[in-house]
Amino acid sequence: MRGPMLGLMNGLGEDDRRSMIVSRLIAIAVAVVVVGAFALHATSAHDGAAGVVKERMAVMKEMDKALHVLEDMLAGKRRYNADAASRALRILADGHARIPKLFPRGSHDFPSEAKPTIWTKWDDFTRLADRAATESTELQSAMIVDDRRAVRQHLRRLDSTCRRCHDEYLERDD
Ligand code: HEC
Repeated sequence: MRGPMLGLMNGLGEDDRRSMIVSRLIAIAVAVVVVGAFALHATSAHDGAAGVVKERMAVMKEMDKALHVLEDMLAGKRRYNADAASRALRILADGHARIPKLFPRGSHDFPSEAKPTIWTKWDDFTRLADRAATESTELQSAMIVDDRRAVRQHLRRLDSTCRRCHDEYLERDD
């Protein structure tokens, strides 16, 4: 490139000036593309780590809350409320149905606590999610007919399916 000083441009011919402008425009275009590519790369990597992991953590936390709402109602620690109960049941059924999609292959990097064995034992992992979803709907049926014993039983089973999956597929520091 010729000198960077603008004053120099006055001493140049029309063609020189044009070629300088063109090369500057090319330099700017290249810079824009490079910066753009970096930005794109940064957001997609960020989404890969935070996106689906963050989403499934939120789903799990919601399910945790929902389970506690139902357990507290059954234990008499919280007043029974049909709307709140059916909301909690829907969260549990929908959340478990979403599990396979919320665990794309290899999505176990920090801060995820998911174990890589999820993908080597995928059938077992998704079977547990299926079972929990089924238990949620059975629990719902038991609540609709107000069969307390069945409610208690299905709630206990559901709780133990959460734990089984966590024991097997959750990395814990402790
Ligand atoms: C099929 C397996 C499976 C089932 C069933 C399951 N979970 Fe999870 N859960 C996981 C995995 C794997 C993680 C770790 C996700 C991560 O960190 O990427 C997790 C994480 C969690 C977390 C921690 C979320 C956070 O913010 O770190 C909570 C709370 C939780 N689950 C509650 C529940 C409850 C309550 C149930 C049952 C009603 C349940 N889970 C059912 C596999 C399961």
